[in-house]
Amino acid sequence: MSGSRIQAEQLRAKVMDAEAAAALITSGSSVGMSGFTGSGYPKAVPLALAAQIEREHAAGNPFKVKVWTGASTGPELDGALAKADGIEFRLPYNSDPIAREKINRGEMEYFDMHLSQVAPMAWQGFLGPLDTAVIEVTGIRPDGALIPSSSIGNNKTWLDRAGQIILEVNSWQNPALEGMHDIYYGTALPPARVPIPLINPDDRIGEPYFHCDLAKIVAIVETDTPDRNAPFTPPNADALGIAGHLIDFLKHEVKKGRLPASLLPLQSGVGNIANAVLTGLIDGPFDNLTAYTEVIQDGMLDLMNSGRLRFASGTAFSLSPEAAASLNANMNDFRGRLLLRPQEISNHPELIRRLGCISMNGLIEADIYGNVNSTHVMGSRIQNGIGGSGDFARNAFLSIFMTPSTAKNGKISAIVPMASHVDHINQDVAVLVTEQGLADLRGLSPKQKAEAIIANCAHPDYRPMLADYYRRAREGSYGQQTPHLLPEALSWHERFVRTGSMLA
Ligand code: COA
Repeated sequence: MSGSRIQAEQLRAKVMDAEAAAALITSGSSVGMSGFTGSGYPKAVPLALAAQIEREHAAGNPFKVKVWTGASTGPELDGALAKADGIEFRLPYNSDPIAREKINRGEMEYFDMHLSQVAPMAWQGFLGPLDTAVIEVTGIRPDGALIPSSSIGNNKTWLDRAGQIILEVNSWQNPALEGMHDIYYGTALPPARVPIPLINPDDRIGEPYFHCDLAKIVAIVETDTPDRNAPFTPPNADALGIAGHLIDFLKHEVKKGRLPASLLPLQSGVGNIANAVLTGLIDGPFDNLTAYTEVIQDGMLDLMNSGRLRFASGTAFSLSPEAAASLNANMNDFRGRLLLRPQEISNHPELIRRLGCISMNGLIEADIYGNVNSTHVMGSRIQNGIGGSGDFARNAFLSIFMTPSTAKNGKISAIVPMASHVDHINQDVAVLVTEQGLADLRGLSPKQKAEAIIANCAHPDYRPMLADYYRRAREGSYGQQTPHLLPEALSWHERFVRTGSMLA
C-alpha cells in the first residue's frame, strides 16, 4: 500500500471525526466492534461514544448500547463504555477490569460463549439484529476491499450483518500486514454446510481482504493509535516449573511414539504461564513446530525467531509493546509464516479435531476428578470468560490445563474437592499440570484421577486436606464412582469467602 490509506475515491466523502461518527449510533442498538485480546479494536469511535453517553446521562437521558466483539478489547472501548455506564449487554470474552466490576455488580448483562460459536449464532439470528459495525482496518483498497489490521475476530460477520458500517482506518497498523490474513467466505448454516477445506495449519483457503456493501459505510474515521499491547511478566518459578513438567511430558509422548517429533499443531491460551511454556519450548528438543491457535503472543514469536516454530495461524496478535515494535519493524520476515483468520475458523471444532491440536490453557481451579473451572472465582464472580478454551479442549488431540497450585499468596488452592463452577468436564481434560507436577488423566477412572491429581498437582499445604477429604468420601456408602461428601464439597470456598483463606 502506498499513499493515503483510503484509496477508494468514492469513500473519501465519508471521512469525518469520531464524534460525528459516534453520533450515528443510537441508544438501545447493537454494535459489533472489531477487537480481539487487545488488538485491532476501534480506538476513537468508542471513546467518542462514551463521551456522548456521559453527556446524555448528565442531561438525564438514558443511553446504553449492546456491545458484541471478537474477544477482549482495550480501555478505549470496554473500559470507556463501561465507565460511562453505557453497556447494557456484552458478549463474548472480556478482560477489562471496569467492565468486569460492572458485570459482577449486576449492572451489565454478560453472555459468555465459545468463541467459535459467536459468528454462527449471529447468522442464526439468536442475537437479534446488528445495527452498527465499528471495524478497525489498516487501509481501504481502490476497489473498496478492506485490509484487516492486527486481529480478525468476528469482523467478517459484523460487516456482513450490520445495517450500517463505521470504519476506523488506523495508520499505526503496519501496511505490511496486507496479505497476512486469510478470510474464508465459505461458511454456511446447516443444511448448506460443507467441509472446510483446511488440512494443514498453513493452508490458505480464503482471501486477504474483507468485502462489504460499500453503500452501508456511513463513516470513516482516521486514527493513529497503538493497540493495547500489555507487557508479559518474566516467567516466575511456578511458570518455569509448569513449563518444565510439560516439556518433559511431551518428550515422553514422542519417545512412546504417541506424538510425532515435531509434535502436533500447538494451541496456547492467554496469559503469562502459556507464554512461559512457549518460551520454554525454545530450549526443548522439538523442531519444525506449527501452531493452530487463537492468539499469537510474544512466546510464539520468540519460538519462531529461534527457528523452532515454522508457522503460526491465529485470529489475533496479543503482544507486549516490545514484541509489537519488533514485529512491526520486521513484518516482512514473518510473511508466509504468520496468518490471521476469522475466529470461527481459528477456533473451529472441525479443524481442531482434524489437525489434532495440542491445546494448553490456564484455569482458575480444578477439582480432584479433573473438572475445570476457567471462568468463575468462588463459583460466582466472573474473571474473564471461557474464550476459546472450550473450542480447543473438547476437540484437541491432547487437552492440557495448567495453573500454579495456589492463588492469592497460598490462601486459595487451585485443586479443590469440587469445582465451584465447571467449564470443562473431566472428559475434556487429558492432562493437568501445576508447578508441583503433572497428572496424565487419560484412561483413568474418577478415583484413579483423584489419586493422580492429589499426589502430583496439589500444593503440599493442601495435599493432606485433599487426601483426607477423598479418604472420607470413599468411606461413604452412597456412591463409589465419584465419591463426594456433599456437605463439605464446597466448604473450602465457603471458608475462603468467610475467612479469606481456604486453609483450615
Ligand atoms: N481463585 C481465585 N482467584 C484466582 C484463582 C483461584 N483459584 N486462580 C487464579 N485467580 C486469579 C489470580 O489471582 C489473578 O488475579 P489478579 O488479576 O487479581 O492478580 C487472576 O485470577 C488471573 O490469574 P493468573 O494466575 O494471572 O493466571 P492467567 O493470566 O494464566 O489467567 C485464567 C488464568 C483462567 C483467568 C485465564 O487463563 C483465562 O481467562 N482463561 C479462560 C479463557 C482461555 O482459556 N482462553 C484461551 C483459549 S484460546
